[in-house]
Amino acid sequence: GNTACGEIGSGRFADTSFIVSEIQKTLHNKLNEKKGISDKSLQTPLDGIRNLITAGPTNEPIDPVRFITNRSSGKMGYSLAEAAIDAGAIVTLITGPVDIEPPMKCNTIPVETAKEMHEAVMHHVNKKDIYIGTAAVSDYRPARKNETKLKKDDKGSPLILELVENQDILKSVSELDERPFVVGFAAETNDLIKNAKTKFKNKGLDLIVANDVSDKSIGFDSDDNAVTLITKRRNLAIEKESKRKIAKKIIKLIEHGTQMQFNFKKSDHNLITLRKEFKQNLFELKNKSSIYQY
Ligand code: C5P
Repeated sequence: GNTACGEIGSGRFADTSFIVSEIQKTLHNKLNEKKGISDKSLQTPLDGIRNLITAGPTNEPIDPVRFITNRSSGKMGYSLAEAAIDAGAIVTLITGPVDIEPPMKCNTIPVETAKEMHEAVMHHVNKKDIYIGTAAVSDYRPARKNETKLKKDDKGSPLILELVENQDILKSVSELDERPFVVGFAAETNDLIKNAKTKFKNKGLDLIVANDVSDKSIGFDSDDNAVTLITKRRNLAIEKESKRKIAKKIIKLIEHGTQMQFNFKKSDHNLITLRKEFKQNLFELKNKSSIYQY
């Protein structure tokens, strides 16, 4: 990006949140060193795991100056990307237009429309171990994009836009023959758990993260969130806290699900085992209620 003084070249000051998180990590490691915890035991749990994440909204053009979109700051997806990177994962982040900086250590692919996001996901999903779809993908797009700006007719006539449905990216991923571990999000204004469960089933997911966007203090532009993680057998609630902390917990849960995976050689990735282990670990987690202790 550009430097503050307009000079060209490297030397741009890193994003404040990045500096803070690097300080936190360094302090954490120093503390562990003092406690005698060796570097080996600090090895990151998602080491070498390939993670594909979508974030932000998509913009669906009506004409050269107007578009329809969904509300989404991208904060949850970007926090998940950061948490996954911190856990050692190799992250590809496909993002719609947002106002925040992506984490430094990920391969970021900017897109505009749902169609572009779908194409980018299908292109990058091959050989990925985990797919997390946080993007607020527009369900519909205008059937036609006008080449020139639409004008009003000054008679007060209504403008009727024809919308056609976009492809469901999450579903496309979960229907792949060699699919990654698939995590979806459900932003709901009502019947949160019921609607999220329906999406979980219809989209063939391994995990869905439900959040209530009718509460203004969480979701959308807020730095905070409160979510319920839903799998085939369990619901686990995470109380209101920062999106960064919630992201760490979600990644932690995925780590739990993938623990056994790291006993295999990298070339032996076995996603069926990954999913089985994940479900088993969720079951144990619930019994120990340790999710609340992260
Ligand atoms: O929009 P909806 O509530 O169905 O979104 C639920 C999940 O599905 C989210 O994870 C979102 O990223 C994903 N989705 C998608 N493609 C769409 C619509 C939603 O991947 N066209």
